[in-house]
Amino acid sequence: MIKKINHIAIAVPDLQAAIHQYETTLGGKVSPIIEEGEHGVMLAFVELDNSKIELLHPLSDDSPIAKFLEKNPHGGIHHICYEVNDIMAAKEHLEREGAKILGDGTPKIGAHGKRVLFLHPKDFNGCLIELEEI
Ligand code: CO
Repeated sequence: MIKKINHIAIAVPDLQAAIHQYETTLGGKVSPIIEEGEHGVMLAFVELDNSKIELLHPLSDDSPIAKFLEKNPHGGIHHICYEVNDIMAAKEHLEREGAKILGDGTPKIGAHGKRVLFLHPKDFNGCLIELEEI
């Protein structure tokens, strides 16, 4: 069901500093900043040959990323996103397997305009999982 890693998201306390570090210290290619008001985040992508890193920063204090940064003030890996071909088939498979889908259990439009689901970190070894339909 899961295919490639689409991206790994890192919550960062200072987005400009993180972009600068990825561009300069690590010599990476970083996208312009994207504001996702609906998701309460601003982000930039580090574009790698085989995947992407999503640098995530909260837009407001009530964003889930703000809560994550309270617990992890230096930042940290926030989620891993795996690609799936069919998000509704994935949802049905996960429900049969007893996995808990976050929210109301229906796919949402994610930060990249594709349908996504999130799976609770408690059920997946402490790792928040995003599934994105590609
Ligand atoms: Co993501």
